[in-house]
Amino acid sequence: MTPHADAEAGQGYLDAAWFLPAIEGPGGFLCLAGWYSLPGPPHRPLSGELAFAGRRARFPCDLPRVDVSGADARFALHSGFDAVLALPGVPEAPLPLRLWDGERERGTLTVAARHPLREAELLRGRLPARRQRKLDNLILAERERLSHRIRINSLPVTGQIDPAFGCNLRCPMCKSQMIREQGYMLPNLDPARLARILDRYGETLIRIWLSLWGEPLLNRRLPEIVRMCKDYDIWAMISSNLSVPLSDAAIGALLESGIDTVMASVDGASQAVYEQYRRGGSLDLALHNLNRLAEARARRGLRRPHLYWRYLVFPWNAHEVEAARRLAAEAGADEFGVEPGVLLPRMQFPLDPPGTAAPARLPPEQAAEWRALARGQAARHRYFGCDYLYSSISVNSDGLAHPCCYVVAPSHALGDATEPAAALRNAPAAEAARAALAAFAADAPGPISAAAPCDGCDVLSACGGHVTTQTGFRQLFDHLVNETPIYW
Ligand SMILES: C[S@@+](CC[C@H](N)C(=O)[O-])C[C@H]1O[C@@H](n2cnc3c(N)ncnc32)[C@H](O)[C@@H]1O
Ligand code: SF4
Repeated sequence: MTPHADAEAGQGYLDAAWFLPAIEGPGGFLCLAGWYSLPGPPHRPLSGELAFAGRRARFPCDLPRVDVSGADARFALHSGFDAVLALPGVPEAPLPLRLWDGERERGTLTVAARHPLREAELLRGRLPARRQRKLDNLILAERERLSHRIRINSLPVTGQIDPAFGCNLRCPMCKSQMIREQGYMLPNLDPARLARILDRYGETLIRIWLSLWGEPLLNRRLPEIVRMCKDYDIWAMISSNLSVPLSDAAIGALLESGIDTVMASVDGASQAVYEQYRRGGSLDLALHNLNRLAEARARRGLRRPHLYWRYLVFPWNAHEVEAARRLAAEAGADEFGVEPGVLLPRMQFPLDPPGTAAPARLPPEQAAEWRALARGQAARHRYFGCDYLYSSISVNSDGLAHPCCYVVAPSHALGDATEPAAALRNAPAAEAARAALAAFAADAPGPISAAAPCDGCDVLSACGGHVTTQTGFRQLFDHLVNETPIYW
């Protein structure tokens, strides 16, 4: 982060200014991300204002930016912005972004928008053909998302394909463990099935998690599965509990598969604390495997996989974070990340076979909640909706696909990922969900309908009205064009 001083009074930086044309019409979307703050304390959030074609859009600069306040305590933690401005035309010349403290102007940032569609045209013929296809599809998916299209032509750019539904552990708040305890089980992913899935999606996928509901290392053909994805130039990663006995040959095969990231799910620094969540797991075994991966990678002179220790914080393990950070460094992890664990109640899932629930009017309380969220987002010039419905695919080990990685019940599958992609992408439930979210985003009057499972989505509210996937457009674009690693 390089601070940029356009005005004596404050400092800020534009991390991104990208313009994407709408699918229809002459205008499009200017996506702005950055921060601006006056030196303090005390700190008051400023607001940013951009004028274009006689219209003005104002948005608050109040999103948390730990990097900003952490680098210089004079600047406000709540100084960030991430706005989407609908413009009636194309921003060809640089535009001033004015920063306001109430009614007092306190600085300016210059917005020289990038035009990814034009950049992709300039790269045509210079990028390998497959990269270009991925880039073209990525841009189309982002334009369809920003335009709130209901029927889409793009293919997924990211997602999950599950090598194994079964698991060796019994983590109590893991949704798939809850459904396994109801007796539901699926066979491991067969590479022949994966070949048919990649035939549909391999040319456009950019990044894939080879993990979804189970423990990927339980599929002994995982290295072959990774290699198949690498053959399509897909960034391939797994999330694993690593508490699985592995031979030296298995470690070697995994490293040589070309896997890009191994995320280790380890949530404690002592066996007693670790096993409160990772029931049936061995901390020593997970650490030993992590260390073997690091050492075998070094012996082979490989740059990857990136070894990421993901520590989920729960009330019972918060006190061991720092001890785990030290263990991670000792074991040879490249990165240690702390994320909140979700305290899920025990749930029962319907085990009916996949079906097609007809769209129905949303219950009034649900509709009122989503309308309020959508209006709140609009007032802040922020996106309202779900990115999974445009950019992602979530495939179980039997090939059935769900709309996102928060849905597990078999009756909620959209279809089979080996079948033609257009039918899956525009399955009735997916279209109904996009239509409902588009209607709320446009503040359309009247009752709004949706279908299961998205009609009861609690993630949308938990995320404040915008469900994002782990990797956004900018990161994927930079990866395709500049080989920037995605890591996790
Ligand atoms: C269902 S697991 C499957 C992969 C593998 N078995 C593992 O545990 O890493 C996928 C991810 O969900 C995470 N997870 C499990 N329970 C969670 C919870 N209650 N809150 C947040 N993430 C959770 C895991 O740590 C893992 O990164
Ligand atoms: S190790 Fe992963 S899949 Fe297994 S129960 Fe725990 S979170 Fe779920």
